[in-house]
Amino acid sequence: SYQKHIRNFSIIAHIDHGKSTLADRIIENTGLVAHRDMKEQFLDNMDLERERGITIKLQTTRLVYKAKNGEEYIFNLIDTPGHVDFTYEVSRSLAACEGAVLIVDATQGVEAQTLANVYLALDENLEIIPTLNKIDLASARPDEVKLEIEDIIGIDAENAPLVSAKEGIGIEDLLEAIVAQVPAPSGSIEGKLKALIFDSYYDNYKGVVIYTRVFDGRVKKGDMIRMMNTKKKYEVTEVGVCSPGPVACKELRAGEVGYICASIKQVADARVGDTITLDADPTEESLPGYKKVQSMVYCGIYPAEGEKYENVKDALEKLQVNDAAFNFEAETSQALGFGFRCGFLGLLHMEIIVERLEREFNLAVITTSPSVIYRVVLNNGEIQMIQNPSNLPKLTEISYIEEPIVKADIMIPKEYVGAIMELCQDRRGKMIHMEYITETRVQLHYEMPLNEVIYDFFDALKSKTRGYGSLDYEFIRYERSQVVKLDVLLNKDLVDAFSMIVHESKAYARGKFVCEKLKEIIPMHQFEVPIQAAIGQKIIARETVRAYRKDVIAKCYGGDISRKKKLLEKQKEGKKRMRQFGTVEVPQEAFTAVLKYD
Ligand code: GTP
Repeated sequence: SYQKHIRNFSIIAHIDHGKSTLADRIIENTGLVAHRDMKEQFLDNMDLERERGITIKLQTTRLVYKAKNGEEYIFNLIDTPGHVDFTYEVSRSLAACEGAVLIVDATQGVEAQTLANVYLALDENLEIIPTLNKIDLASARPDEVKLEIEDIIGIDAENAPLVSAKEGIGIEDLLEAIVAQVPAPSGSIEGKLKALIFDSYYDNYKGVVIYTRVFDGRVKKGDMIRMMNTKKKYEVTEVGVCSPGPVACKELRAGEVGYICASIKQVADARVGDTITLDADPTEESLPGYKKVQSMVYCGIYPAEGEKYENVKDALEKLQVNDAAFNFEAETSQALGFGFRCGFLGLLHMEIIVERLEREFNLAVITTSPSVIYRVVLNNGEIQMIQNPSNLPKLTEISYIEEPIVKADIMIPKEYVGAIMELCQDRRGKMIHMEYITETRVQLHYEMPLNEVIYDFFDALKSKTRGYGSLDYEFIRYERSQVVKLDVLLNKDLVDAFSMIVHESKAYARGKFVCEKLKEIIPMHQFEVPIQAAIGQKIIARETVRAYRKDVIAKCYGGDISRKKKLLEKQKEGKKRMRQFGTVEVPQEAFTAVLKYD
């Protein structure tokens, strides 16, 4: 049957081990795209992604490969996002496959996300093809890394293809291994339609384009489909394959991968992980693993001085249409006025959205301190999920607060164990255990509050290990914790946008840090500006921005006219990027500067 010649697979790897480069090579070697048409990094299609060198949105490509046995195979290469923030999306795209090419950088060896991705692939019962990349480099040590794969992951790596994605070495071996080792799809074309949504994007003309893997049955234009979990119904307007641009076809059958359009207005209506079936003849059971992605990190996004609220709202709506994991609602801040509370999968996701607002929509925005969601239990037994520090109920009403805990797996060369254990301890981590995965490399397993991870833990890990440390984490539970709300007062006025929830043991250090940082950033005023950090009524830290000295002002007025003009110009420039809080002017950078600590 046609299924015998289909291979559905993903490439999984730790960040920077060469996934995108290899994908490009595979596309090139399967001959569908002429070399001159290849844009660098074919699969990563957003500018931001390219700049940051990470894959955020999935892309899928259908390729034709003529194997050494003379037969033609259809390869559906399903890309996976390469960052811990997107684990659920990775797991759903793997669920669309029968196999996974596991790339390991032959100079680096197995890393935290190599393992995390392997576990996801094993959960989906995928055939894993270990592949060593970057063998062109003098520092490559393929034999050692093979042993590492066998020891750590427990899969046979003896015959792992040795490739250089960059130089195009060994690609053929890999393609043959895919033909030989990845199982062909099974599934019945006569069965009731069962198709997995593993990605989607919004197209201005077609509406939402769903990437799907059909497991049973068939789907074509005109069919009335139903989403099993959201229960929404749509009429199919087009089905097709990604080659890599959309190419319409008559139908998609069991085992095939392609896209479906059905005039769907936003990606949230076609949720990743949901099962598509026919409304008239539905399957009984949806595919396993559906879950609604939960935002883990929240922050406020506000128009900066001179920016229009409506413009920011429009942009956020546009972003949301294309990103089901991003959500927002209106909120007001005493300090910043009208704005939005936004939810993200993680800090990287947040940074990406903010950057897109600035770059693609040309907007100036202010973001408040990111916060995790706290579970607040009140004295009367009521439970509130709080994502905005300003909404924390009065202390007297609170019985206790719980915070989200993650399981963090950290992989490092052994010489950094001391430094990283110290770092984790400082971040309130609890060590679960530690294991030597090779003679020189160690994996540390910690439980750590998410709150500590979102404040630049990853940067700290990288800098303390000279870039060699890697991290993977996932939410495990809520745990009771002594957290408090830390407020910032400027000239005695509370500025709610700076409020944050911190652990009691960190409050003093954090309060001091924030005051010192703000002192550096807030310009001199005509009067003295006290900067205070407080918990409730109690001031725990204080700094002061001194007032202008009289003679400075006098000088200005006394000077020649052109100099005065220049000064005024300069002041105006500065104004634009300032926010007025009561009597105090704060530059925009203050909001991000207080978040970094180390
Ligand atoms: P994410 O998209 O973030 O997951 O990264 P990636 O795994 O796709 O890595 P990418 O393909 O962007 O490669 C990372 C870096 O390694 C780039 O600078 C590549 O040029 C380089 N690289 C990839 N393959 C090879 C190779 O075979 N040899 C050498 N020398 N460099 C390579």
